[in-house]
Amino acid sequence: MKKPTVLELRRSKGARLAMLTAYDFPTASLVAEAGVDLILVGDSLGMVVLGYDSTVPVTMDEMVMLAAAVRRGARTPLVVGDLPFGSYQASDQQAVENAVRFMKEAGCDAVKLEMAGVSQGVAHKRESVSRARAIIAAGIPVMGHVGLTPQSASALGGYKAQGRDVRQAVQVADDALALQDAGCFAIVFEAIPAAVSETIMERMRIPVIGIGAGSSTDGQVLVFHDLLGIYEGHAPRFAKRFAEVKRAMVDGVQDFAHEVRERRFPAAEHTYGIDPGELAEFRQIVAPGKPWNAADAFS
Ligand code: KIV
Repeated sequence: MKKPTVLELRRSKGARLAMLTAYDFPTASLVAEAGVDLILVGDSLGMVVLGYDSTVPVTMDEMVMLAAAVRRGARTPLVVGDLPFGSYQASDQQAVENAVRFMKEAGCDAVKLEMAGVSQGVAHKRESVSRARAIIAAGIPVMGHVGLTPQSASALGGYKAQGRDVRQAVQVADDALALQDAGCFAIVFEAIPAAVSETIMERMRIPVIGIGAGSSTDGQVLVFHDLLGIYEGHAPRFAKRFAEVKRAMVDGVQDFAHEVRERRFPAAEHTYGIDPGELAEFRQIVAPGKPWNAADAFS
């Protein structure tokens, strides 16, 4: 399969896009084989893979190491690296340097950054737009992210849906349009009312990928571990489970432990053989009671 370009994706506005997170080699290869359009190496890995309480502690080194594993597992879908908290807030230069790391060290096709204008006001919004513009000017495609932006959960008052009153809804629209004007090739709408999302869609010219934003967006994204029922932490209402993989994994591990204890594993088909003559000679050499001297065994 030919790898699509970011430009082709941008032009596919109106197509239905399926984006999924992946954080390692085997997941990336299975997600690619299943035929998703985009893979997001999301900073959600902090919670579902690294066991942090939030996405805030995730570092750029952790992201780059895992994004590189994803790239090795998935050649064709576009891979987007999620800039973690603290990797782009300080300055445009910091944002560009870390976006470059995703491209050079991990082989990503684009980066994503969050914009929390709703809670953080005009100055913060100006800065997020400036970061997006700087990264784009460096030749790196940027995906925006508005609505519930988990890196700012503390400032937003928790993991709460955004845009549920007119003032907030206007803010979300303003964030989305600002990032679109900055040149983002696509944007994520997270946890906003379906009707607000549908209304903003009328002004969006770039593909919008929704998560908890209703069905009017151009695509949908989910966290891999939520979709397959692997992660059992807090599950937002939009995290539809399409399978119960954790149950199957626990069952498999329990069967393994049981068979080991019952001496049923390994069976003959899981073991290696040796020529009987070689074995007889070996047994003579190591027979108990004889002085041990491996060096003399073949002299
Ligand atoms: O980090 C992530 O997985 C995300 C998606 C939920 C959009 O940002």
